[in-house]
Amino acid sequence: MKELSLHILDIVQNSVKAKADKIDIIINENIKDNLLEITISDNGCGMSEDFLKTVKDPFSTTRTTRKVGMGISLFEAAAIQSGGHLDIKSKLGQGTTLYVCFMHNSIDRAPIGNMIDTMITIILSAPEIQYVYKHCKNEKEFVFDTDVIKQSLGDIPITTPEILEWIKGYMQEGLASL
Ligand SMILES: Nc1ncnc2c1ncn2[C@@H]1O[C@H](COP(=O)(O)OP(=O)(O)OP(=O)(O)O)[C@@H](O)[C@H]1O
Ligand SMILES: [Mg+2]
Repeated sequence: MKELSLHILDIVQNSVKAKADKIDIIINENIKDNLLEITISDNGCGMSEDFLKTVKDPFSTTRTTRKVGMGISLFEAAAIQSGGHLDIKSKLGQGTTLYVCFMHNSIDRAPIGNMIDTMITIILSAPEIQYVYKHCKNEKEFVFDTDVIKQSLGDIPITTPEILEWIKGYMQEGLASL
């Protein structure tokens, strides 16, 4: 079973390829309703209505290096396995929103995994993009916004090792408070 954070990494790579300059990642753990919801939205190139209809099919890809695209179909399979589902909304020229939900307590639900390392990997892979990561657990929430951090950094790049270490600590504290 692949950790959900690794699926998130795959989906964010789609948004990066779609030339988004802002990507939002929302994880909502709603224990009361036994739901784990993940929403990833971007302001990239979007997909046409016709392409969108077939996008969950592994043979639907604009990849040129191989004929199958696995990111979305594997994430959907993981959701269905735990009694959930996956939806995608997209508008050409405007962007894409992918929503996926899981039964929180299903034994067939993969663990969320390490979101801190995932966010660091995402930032390093395309630091110019604005990432907003919001994690809600019941009534509490933690929000991490790379633009807020970049503003306080001035000319110091967000990819500076000391800054990344600081971000890890900040996220550790924020997520632990949920
Ligand atoms: N956020 C997005 N914006 C625009 N197009 C997208 C987005 N996400 C997916 N797509 C389109 O859907 C196709 C299928 O995506 P999917 O992640 O399933 O496979 P892939 O990215 O082609 O290959 P893989 O994920 O295995 O590297 C992509 O090739 C791309 O054309
Ligand atoms: Mg992909």
